[in-house]
Amino acid sequence: MVKKYRIAVLPGDGVGREVIPEALKVLDSAAEAVGGLDFDYVEVPCGGKYYLKTGLEWPDDGFETCRGADAILFGAVGWPKAVLPSGQLAGIGILLDLRFGLDLYANVRPAKLYDGVECFVKGKEAGDVDFVIVRENTEGLYAPIKGSLERGGKREVAVDVRVLTRKGCERVIDYAFRLCLSRRGAAVDGKRRVTCVDKSNVLEGCRFFRKVFDEVAEKYGSVEKDYVYVDAMTQWMIRTPERYDVIVTTNMFGDILSDLSSVLIGGMGMAPSGNVGDEHAMFEPVHGSAPDIAGREVANPIGAILSAKMMLEWLAQKHKDEACRKAAEAIERGVADVLADGKIRTQDLCYGRYADVKPSKTSAVGDAIAQRIRKMEN
Ligand code: IPM
Ligand code: MN
Repeated sequence: MVKKYRIAVLPGDGVGREVIPEALKVLDSAAEAVGGLDFDYVEVPCGGKYYLKTGLEWPDDGFETCRGADAILFGAVGWPKAVLPSGQLAGIGILLDLRFGLDLYANVRPAKLYDGVECFVKGKEAGDVDFVIVRENTEGLYAPIKGSLERGGKREVAVDVRVLTRKGCERVIDYAFRLCLSRRGAAVDGKRRVTCVDKSNVLEGCRFFRKVFDEVAEKYGSVEKDYVYVDAMTQWMIRTPERYDVIVTTNMFGDILSDLSSVLIGGMGMAPSGNVGDEHAMFEPVHGSAPDIAGREVANPIGAILSAKMMLEWLAQKHKDEACRKAAEAIERGVADVLADGKIRTQDLCYGRYADVKPSKTSAVGDAIAQRIRKMEN
């Protein structure tokens, strides 16, 4: 019996349109390699360019199509001059609507340095960097409690309220501990460790987050608890990435730290993510639409391909589907093998000891990974 999953695909703007086709190509090759697995892709147009054409950020039934799908694969949104009357970049609202509307409370952002990729930080090699940031995704500074005050036609005040709820903290922290149990521990010592990142020396919400962290941690006696202030974390993460296993933090801190973590793994083009809830999930590369390099076929598709891998892992768990698990493993191996070969890579990875490698196009990287997967014995 072939199990078929319906995937809502939102390539969006800019390089999103170039990397998502590569992710689909690799998904298909993995499904073919393991057998018993198939995908039905439903494309939902969206983003800044779509807004310029239609006056809408996405079609009226866009949200329902996503909600009805087994999983969502998202590219990137944002295009110059495509700005809503409110001043917000067109397309951003879709991402937030999906995160909030589908209650995707954990934003899971792995940082893994692969063999064949040079770390921007001196002395760090594959095996030194392998941690996951779990970012709260439905509250914090992203809560839609905001506003501004105009007096005499002049904007005078703007506020964004940072909201932390017990439920919001508990479920994302619990997610982080469960994820930790499924991993092999920190690179430096193999110890399972969850690091709570906050600013509890100053902020009330962060004191609350840390208290809830301690309460949840009681259920997970075998996991080491660890605490770092967010300002200090910006240097510890770079100096001793091997210490970290799972990091859990509030929405905005996680947004910032996850971009920072990408310098450990070869840049933003390498970073995948999953926005995960109890019922739904959406997967997206962490990089944006990158209008400066869009249309030149130079974007690195690996962040998107690894996001598709995370989607398979999530489907495997949700549906207890062995074929999805195997397909995810095949993608992981395909990516690792092509990178370790050191020959086929986009321009962003051609630096340091790989400076002399001739850069490949986006689609050539997708082809190489798909081909490698097809040749695997499963
Ligand atoms: C991200 C992005 C988004 C965020 C933007 C585009 C709304 O930066 O996914 O990290 O801030 O979460
Ligand atoms: Mn971000």
